[in-house]
Amino acid sequence: MSVCFSKTMIKNGLHYVHNLKPLNKNMDLVLEDLSVISNHQAYNINESKSERDIIIDVQSLEKKFGDLKAVDNVSFQIKKGELFSLLGPNGAGKSTTIRMLTTVLNPTSGDAIIDDNSLKKQKNQIKSIIGVCPQDIVIFDVLSAEENVRFVAEMHGIDKKSAREESKKLLQLMNIGGRKDACKNFSGGMKRRLNLVMGLVHKPKILFLDEPSAGLDPQARRLVWDFIRNLKKTGMTIILTTHDMVEADLLSDHIAIMDKGKIIAMGTPNELKKKDMNVSNLELEFHNAQELNDTQKCLKNYDNIKNIQKISDIKISVSFIGGIPTLKNEILECAIKVKNLLFRDPTLEDIFLNLTGRSLRD
Ligand SMILES: Nc1ncnc2c1ncn2[C@@H]1O[C@H](COP(=O)(O)OP(=O)(O)O)[C@@H](O)[C@H]1O
Ligand SMILES: [Mg+2]
Repeated sequence: MSVCFSKTMIKNGLHYVHNLKPLNKNMDLVLEDLSVISNHQAYNINESKSERDIIIDVQSLEKKFGDLKAVDNVSFQIKKGELFSLLGPNGAGKSTTIRMLTTVLNPTSGDAIIDDNSLKKQKNQIKSIIGVCPQDIVIFDVLSAEENVRFVAEMHGIDKKSAREESKKLLQLMNIGGRKDACKNFSGGMKRRLNLVMGLVHKPKILFLDEPSAGLDPQARRLVWDFIRNLKKTGMTIILTTHDMVEADLLSDHIAIMDKGKIIAMGTPNELKKKDMNVSNLELEFHNAQELNDTQKCLKNYDNIKNIQKISDIKISVSFIGGIPTLKNEILECAIKVKNLLFRDPTLEDIFLNLTGRSLRD
């Protein structure tokens, strides 16, 4: 099968292909066969001290669009082989951060050292070792899935035979191997999975995934998560953005929570959840909406009630300072008609809510 590529296709393809240098040889096992990759876990366990070093060091990065500081003095470090997530609501500055780190946007100030290269001074070196799956899907609608992937692979200098084999393997893993028709017929979810494959077919040392599972149905989301987990097991460093706390919680070694351009908390998922130990979380279920409204109104009068979130017409989540003893009276007085009461562990959503007073989904 031969494909004729137009100028626009080549321009779009360059979105994925920054440089035609040879691929990262250390990552050869990455896409060999993701189903057996777990056998290689020893790679991480036995890694030498130097391999555990910082691969990305973001230093006071800032991006202004006119008066808006989209990214405001952001600093963080990522270790080699880690999965690091930027978690935050829409508009937090996640994509702008990724676009700067992947050399698409110039920072207003600050720098990042990526695999010993300065973002300011050594853009080309950085381009040669990264892969990017952008938030906005960039594919060629007139080509099939395999043609899209092969096109990007060949632009990266992969020979035709390997490009074909690699494309087939990856598309199979993403459950779109069977589709031979033009991508214009694909669902949004299929396009997103194809977008992901196109960002990593060249086995980059560092992979940036901007909202990789946005808009996917639960089954496809699981598939993408398993795929990302298996990539991580090979030692690839992955930076992911998401507004989905479950995704961040399940996949990440470290998370930076972003809001309004700033990092407002950072740590492992467990560290973040333990951050506000003094805050407890309770779910209350009522027989009807009226009972819920009465209770909500009543609870608002107490200072130790930090947040009340409506889950449904008959269910609320309440975070409060202190443990059961401090809440007993309030509950007795306010929620006398409660049907069910459940203490639950904090989630990343609670942490965000407690830090900002807003929900991640707002
Ligand atoms: N090219 C641009 N010009 C002007 N404003 C922008 C541009 N890109 C992003 N922004 C603004 O910067 C803020 C952060 O956007 P973004 O980084 O896309 O957030 P996120 O990815 O967390 O949803 C938003 O307020 C957005 O509207
Ligand atoms: Mg974004």
